[in-house]
Amino acid sequence: MKRLVIGVSGGSGIPYALDILRSLHGLDVETHLVVTSGAKRVMTAEGGVRLDELTTLASVIHEDRDLGASIASGSFRTDGMLIVPCSAGTLAKVAHGMADNLVSRAAHVTLKERRRLVLVLREDPVPRPMLVNMLAAHDAGATVMSASPGFYHAPRSVDELLHFVTVRVLDQFGLEAGGFRRWGEGG
Ligand SMILES: Cc1cc2nc3c(=O)[nH]c(=O)nc-3n(C[C@H](O)[C@H](O)[C@H](O)COP(=O)(O)O)c2cc1C
Repeated sequence: MKRLVIGVSGGSGIPYALDILRSLHGLDVETHLVVTSGAKRVMTAEGGVRLDELTTLASVIHEDRDLGASIASGSFRTDGMLIVPCSAGTLAKVAHGMADNLVSRAAHVTLKERRRLVLVLREDPVPRPMLVNMLAAHDAGATVMSASPGFYHAPRSVDELLHFVTVRVLDQFGLEAGGFRRWGEGG
């Protein structure tokens, strides 16, 4: 069974995290979920997703302030981590090795153990410090993605747009989310 760490930080787009957790639940992946206080603030503002909808889908829930959690140590084996949405602030921490909350510490651990780390960013326009941080995170070994769905699968709903991002994120871990017609694969 695969084991993934899922960080949810305070970028807009918490529904992306929900769709990814739903897919991972269906794939029988052990998920370790951490939600930052920034993400909780955004969740309240966006109103679309409740915290308990995320937590009921996770195998293990960690508090973002708990720097003694299992996922804060490299000796706890995982198949990688994804942060969705990844705020500009969390990107900056990850890019520069800051580890003052559990999301940033677990991301640091993922990089140091050379496991796969996927950051799904959401911020526009992108200011220069963020561009620099994106390159630094890339060079440190992370995969930098944007919460920016394509349209070539002819989406008919918001759910289908969200799921495009889910499919491309889980592809990074060799996981098949399904429910998506891939380019060149007919159907
Ligand atoms: C309603 C709302 C929407 C936000 N949207 C974004 C966003 O899309 N991208 C981003 O980088 N920050 C966004 N922020 C700001 C972050 O939540 C804020 O910088 C926070 O400190 C991030 O902390 P965290 O990375 O620990 O979650 C938003 C904040 C609020 C209240």
